[in-house]
Amino acid sequence: MTTREDAAREAAALGEQLRRHAHLYYVLDAPELPDTEYDKLFQRLQALEAEHSELRTPDSPTQRVGGKVLEGFAKVRHKVPMLSIRTETDITPGGASAFDARVRKELGLAEDGPQVEYVCELKFDGLAVNLRYEQGVLVQAATRGDGEIGEDVTQSIRTVQQIPLRLHGDAPPVAEVRGEVYMRRDDFEALNERQREKIAAGQKNEKVFVNPRNAAAGAVRQLDPAIAASRPLSFFAYGLGEVSSPEQGGPDCATQFDWLQQFHAWGFPIGTQTQRASGAIELIAFHETIARERDALPYDIDGVVYKVDSLELQRRLGFVSREPRWAVAHKYPAQEQLTEVLGIEVQVGRTGKLTPVAKLAPIFVGGVTVTNATLHNEDEARRKDVRVGDTVIVRRAGDVIPEVVGVLPESAARPAQQRGPVFTMPRKCPVCGSDALREEGEVDYRCTGGLFCGAQRKEAILHFAARRALDIEGLGDKLVEQLVDANLIRTLPDLYKLGFTTLAGLDRMADKSAKNLVDALEASKKTTLPRFLFGLGIRHIGESTAKDLAKHFGKLDGIMDATEEQLLEVNDVGPVVAKSLRTFFDQPHNREVVEQLRACGLGWEEGEPAARAPKPLAGKTFVITGTLPTLSRDEAKDKLETAGAKVAGSVSKKTDYLVAGAEAGSKLDKALELGVAVIDEARMLEILENGL
Ligand code: IVH
Repeated sequence: MTTREDAAREAAALGEQLRRHAHLYYVLDAPELPDTEYDKLFQRLQALEAEHSELRTPDSPTQRVGGKVLEGFAKVRHKVPMLSIRTETDITPGGASAFDARVRKELGLAEDGPQVEYVCELKFDGLAVNLRYEQGVLVQAATRGDGEIGEDVTQSIRTVQQIPLRLHGDAPPVAEVRGEVYMRRDDFEALNERQREKIAAGQKNEKVFVNPRNAAAGAVRQLDPAIAASRPLSFFAYGLGEVSSPEQGGPDCATQFDWLQQFHAWGFPIGTQTQRASGAIELIAFHETIARERDALPYDIDGVVYKVDSLELQRRLGFVSREPRWAVAHKYPAQEQLTEVLGIEVQVGRTGKLTPVAKLAPIFVGGVTVTNATLHNEDEARRKDVRVGDTVIVRRAGDVIPEVVGVLPESAARPAQQRGPVFTMPRKCPVCGSDALREEGEVDYRCTGGLFCGAQRKEAILHFAARRALDIEGLGDKLVEQLVDANLIRTLPDLYKLGFTTLAGLDRMADKSAKNLVDALEASKKTTLPRFLFGLGIRHIGESTAKDLAKHFGKLDGIMDATEEQLLEVNDVGPVVAKSLRTFFDQPHNREVVEQLRACGLGWEEGEPAARAPKPLAGKTFVITGTLPTLSRDEAKDKLETAGAKVAGSVSKKTDYLVAGAEAGSKLDKALELGVAVIDEARMLEILENGL
């Protein structure tokens, strides 16, 4: 038991350490501690607080997810109204010049007078919040609401790791920090992935979020703090509300830029792109730079914000109807637009995955013209219920492929007979006509004509040539690309028809390399059954399964003609693998390719099918315990299993034999108690030899 004073001292030190490391990790992206060490500190603090409950203060790092599920949100009147900014909709550089001209005019600056200094920030696409700190401790978080009255969202905001529960360094009596709560694109994609899994698992109340802003807003307005904590939110600080004056102990900042530095010193993330700019020309340069960088940012922005840097000038400029004259948002092309669905096609990817794609009336979104947008998979297409002729919302953000977010309600509300048919995935590959198969528990359909399908050609050849397959040296990515694009190879057998002259005639192909490749192709003809089988690229057939299959059947024909039941007899082959093999060899085209390869001279030594070993111990359950005199436990287990026995880990009524060695313990007691037969290693070997 620690004394109260010791506990308090240790808890304070731990809190300090945890705050520092959380800040390094979440805000500065520069962790110094491995996660496990952080967890240890965290658990130690939890233990101390459990012992001394008075140490569990609201700003303790353990108290991010503390509260109960709320009934609703309390209203909060903002001490200083939360204003909005005027939007410069002219997305050309002219927008920035117009703003600068207005500012200059208001300030009465002559044309040849000094440039106005600005701060340029990103316009984050999230949700504005006001964070109130008293004596440095976060006491309240509120949404913007109508600017006068917002909602109290303290509980969910406390779960945002990037928001400090206590300000770092010197804190004034009162400080309100404002900024944007948002969700990173990768966090958004991952969240939606989890949501789709939940929906697939039958959880009716779950939904897929349409965009990161929507997901962030949903998380902030979440009444259950545990759910809010599971929705990864981030934060950028960019403004202030009520703050103690310098006389009362508040910071003495003269510019917006100073304030941003102060926020950073208090522990908040501020925009990494933030820059000072002098006059219209530099504003325009900023707008153009960010336009280029926008796609690569890890979060959505819908524009940039220019703010007059000097607070003194801001005061002189003042407001017009709730909008400051000293700030403006300069937009970029929207990342979501409406357009019409002209058709729905199914595309086949390099690995055979079938993806429904909406063909769109061309639309300018996120800075490019888009004519295709993914519908992800059959379930998603049906959930969104996208039909030909519908008006849909298309989203293109970052370098993520454009997607159909949803159907406009008016479109969806049209009578069924005026809309196109419900989407169904074709059961045949649209490229090669092979069966398309959706495995149990998977969302995607796949083409099973891997060897023949035009969409999978490049992938199939690369896999076939890989080191662990046919090991054709010199047949790499670039060359395969070239050969397929020039239509020199359509299916695998074409590889063996490539002569020196054809190869040497290719771009960037030296005679020596061409010769080496011809030799490598020739050498690859003499191979082994497992390599060949693995090289076919059948889904779920890895190297080791290929070996097991080869050992079991000895011959390729045996494998190609085996029924699912027969395949299931092979070591480690389960229903998924058996079905995959069967479907693959049921495609006439795949079989043809195999025959053609054999005709090209590919061969290996075939073996005899493994003798169907007798299974004298089938249906019997053994348990092994203690140290056996000659065999290791694994060896004993192997022998028993080969003879068809099941080897279990614990003794129960279903156990037939306990094989006991030296220092057998509780399992022996249990066996004796249940009346299970107990034998030694010698007797076990005798049973294996002669049967029961
Ligand atoms: S300043 C008085 N700076 O845009 C100025 N706003 O209407 C108050 N926003 O509600 C806002 N990034 O949600 C400011 N760097 C930024 C911003 C930003 C995003 C949002 C904010 C506000 C809206 C403007």
